[in-house]
Amino acid sequence: MGKALVLEDVRKSYGGREAVKGISFEVDEGEIFGLIGPNGAGKTTTLRMICTLLKVGSGTIKVYGHDVMGESTAVRNVISYLPEDAGAYREMTGRAYLKFVAGFFADGREAEAMAERGIGMSGLDERIDSKVETYSKGMRRRLLIARAMMSRPKLAVMDEITSGLDVMNAYEIREMVGSIARSGTTVLISSHNMYEVESLCSRVAMINHGEIVLSGTPAELKEEAGASNLEEVFVRAVRSQ
Ligand SMILES: Nc1ncnc2c1ncn2[C@@H]1O[C@H](COP(=O)(O)OP(=O)(O)O)[C@@H](O)[C@H]1O
Ligand SMILES: [Mg+2]
Repeated sequence: MGKALVLEDVRKSYGGREAVKGISFEVDEGEIFGLIGPNGAGKTTTLRMICTLLKVGSGTIKVYGHDVMGESTAVRNVISYLPEDAGAYREMTGRAYLKFVAGFFADGREAEAMAERGIGMSGLDERIDSKVETYSKGMRRRLLIARAMMSRPKLAVMDEITSGLDVMNAYEIREMVGSIARSGTTVLISSHNMYEVESLCSRVAMINHGEIVLSGTPAELKEEAGASNLEEVFVRAVRSQ
């Protein structure tokens, strides 16, 4: 199986302070990979470098074989990024918003088809014709994920997709991400809630203070640590450092 993403010894500093300290990991094609760690660990910084939105400090990042710095256009053509704080135009209906965004990717029939695909993915049913400002947080998140996925990226990168959502909404969002991955897209998500993403991810990398502490399948990590969930694995690893 090919590699969707390869990071090698990636570093990034903000004004002399190192936020990402030489991290390496690989994501296989077709998997849901979780970058998990507490607030301030360096997750968003890492995702933004992967998505060509932030210059790589040092080291290399390749997306489907394309270097994010040297071949940024090729990378942008196969990737989609959903920032944690993403918003949609509140005055538009969900349908109008997806059509508007599809217009950036394609024209005519192709754009129509893309928007229709997004509408289906969102699962918003008749509420797709309500204004975004009337949506709940969960509905807004569904719309944004549909927006990020309707162009059929090869790699979807999503930052803290369930933060701020209640149990049911978070569950539904994870189901949505699961079905997106089954349709063939590779997914990289970040989360500060390790417990929550455990069931969704085929593999995870745990990040703390800009360094990868552990990585593997949730089952492997739990077994090696003799822990019952990933949060426990993380706490033990950090305490024994
Ligand atoms: N634009 C920035 N300027 C300066 N420091 C930043 C900036 N963005 C993030 N940081 C710092 O880098 C570290 C990692 O942040 P971030 O990547 O946002 O972590 P996470 O997403 O895991 O919460 C934190 O200490 C944060 O304060
Ligand atoms: Mg973040």
